[in-house]
Amino acid sequence: MPRPAIDLFHETFGTTPRAAASAPGRVNLIGEHTDYNGGPVLPIAIPARTTAAVGPGAPGDAGVLEAVSTRDRTVVRLKWQDELPRSWAAYLAGVLRELWSLAVVPPHGSARIAVASDLPVGAGLASSAALAVAVAKALAPALKPRQIAGVAFRAEHDHVGVRCGVMDQTIAALGKPDHALLFECASLEATQIPFGARLLLVDTGKRHELSAGGLNVRRAECEEAVKRLKVELPELVWLASWPPEWLLRLKRALPEPLRSRAVHVVSETARARFAAQLLAQRKLKQFGRLLYESHESCRRLYECSSPELDTVVGAAKRGGALGARLTGAGWGGVAVVLVNQTDKKTAPAIQRAFERAYGRPAPITEVKASAGAHAERV
Ligand code: GLA
Repeated sequence: MPRPAIDLFHETFGTTPRAAASAPGRVNLIGEHTDYNGGPVLPIAIPARTTAAVGPGAPGDAGVLEAVSTRDRTVVRLKWQDELPRSWAAYLAGVLRELWSLAVVPPHGSARIAVASDLPVGAGLASSAALAVAVAKALAPALKPRQIAGVAFRAEHDHVGVRCGVMDQTIAALGKPDHALLFECASLEATQIPFGARLLLVDTGKRHELSAGGLNVRRAECEEAVKRLKVELPELVWLASWPPEWLLRLKRALPEPLRSRAVHVVSETARARFAAQLLAQRKLKQFGRLLYESHESCRRLYECSSPELDTVVGAAKRGGALGARLTGAGWGGVAVVLVNQTDKKTAPAIQRAFERAYGRPAPITEVKASAGAHAERV
């Protein structure tokens, strides 16, 4: 639904936008905290999207970015080459800087951007990647999907300073309806795998702010683990490339908590690759079991779950779901639950358990694998 962003652009700046584009949020089926360790991820794009309508700035406003969103309708005005504020507009400035370095935006180019989204922020659905990808696609429609993903990734990683991996921007740019994307984050090899299973999203209602959260800490721990493991295996570049048959050696070489973090990454890497094979063969029962295992590894070894997420996953298991796990960075946000085509019991079972534990409902929606970024008509 591109209208709200286009209407907002019109209302705010009194003119018609030059272009518009939208990009989806995502859930990751399996392969958590593997992307920045050079391992595989298996996300799908979800129907909830962010739309950006863009146009040039006012005459004489060299180097100025004016941004507005339907969330508060307040115009943020900044010079995108100056120091960035701690605001959502920093993502937009990051995209402009990256497009400038690709010579798509002129050195003192100006822009006006209006944004509308039906993605909740901080729910683990990668709203920031959807924002950056939508803006990049609207400003540079001729770039290839992988280039758009690169621009959005560097905007978030290099300019905003969130030490994320490439998963979120990649699926937002490359997502395909009815498919999951197996993306190998070291080789950058992408494989679309048909995904038509029933998937529920359960929102625990707990929000987190990534840049302030545990992601940066975990990433530093993984880097420290690689530094130490290089003594054993000098050619090691990515933690995910540690041979799984050498797990004992890894355990001996690392103190806690680095040991637990590294065991998660190495086993999750093997699990995600195996899960992708099972999905391709439509072996959903076995695939689902790996989702439970992945959650357990995130909870116990990577310590990125939360009591609310554990309640949802536990209730899903008891209620007969094929699989369930936290998705995205964790520490709150959303859980994914894989259910049979005919299942009617799992959602009410989760609802009851959650209400009993927290005295409030956990909104449940069913999602289908949806399209990646595309241009919208203005
Ligand atoms: C966040 C990051 C991703 C990825 C996940 C964990 O969503 O943005 O790059 O690291 O956490 O798998």
